[in-house]
Amino acid sequence: MFNVAIDGPAGAGKSSIARQVAQKLGFIYIDTGALYRTVGLNAVNNGVDLKDTSAIESSLDGLEVEIKFIDDEQRVYMNGTDVSDKIRTPEISLAASAVSSVPKVREFLFDLQKSLAESNNSIMDGRDIGTVVLPNADVKIFLTASAKARADRRYKQLEESGESVVWQDVYDDIVKRDYDDSHRAIAPLKQADDAVLADTSELTLEQSIELIEDIIKRNLK
Ligand code: DC
Repeated sequence: MFNVAIDGPAGAGKSSIARQVAQKLGFIYIDTGALYRTVGLNAVNNGVDLKDTSAIESSLDGLEVEIKFIDDEQRVYMNGTDVSDKIRTPEISLAASAVSSVPKVREFLFDLQKSLAESNNSIMDGRDIGTVVLPNADVKIFLTASAKARADRRYKQLEESGESVVWQDVYDDIVKRDYDDSHRAIAPLKQADDAVLADTSELTLEQSIELIEDIIKRNLK
């Protein structure tokens, strides 16, 4: 199987880019953030205190997380129920971030990620794919953009969806998240030694898609 690992900070455009490149190449796109979000949703549904590591660990007992591909789109299931839409709220983003720093949660999701890559030509995105989950991926890309570029994009998105926000707050939030993600004790966000760095600060979405597709195609035999 041919596996592409794409890692990078929140807001760099990983999922939009990876989804479209996967479609062009006929690969499946695996969004691993959705798995952490599902564990987060389960914890919230069970009233778990997100500062309590052992309570988060106990919430894994009996939990079943599955991924299915329907019309090439990933859907994620929690104990047999499709929760793909429920996991996209700000509350669940925070819960996902909390549970993702617990080693037992990362172990719990490891085999699922590994086996999906073993049985599919895939592009998998996350934070630790090239470093931990798929250290032997055929292509590794570290996809990033400056904090300012990411804040500009996020600000525009929020404005377009009718939310009134202050640009500086959006920017500060991104800087804080970057710091937290790259300084956590387990699986911190960092570029693998053998990953290609792709900076999309000055690129449109279409140009970013072209860039990533080119990097992958150079490595396809
Ligand atoms: O990419 P996302 O925003 O959907 O990810 C949700 C959370 O899960 C985010 O806080 C980072 C974390 N995550 C992780 O620790 N490792 C991954 N491979 C993917 C996501």
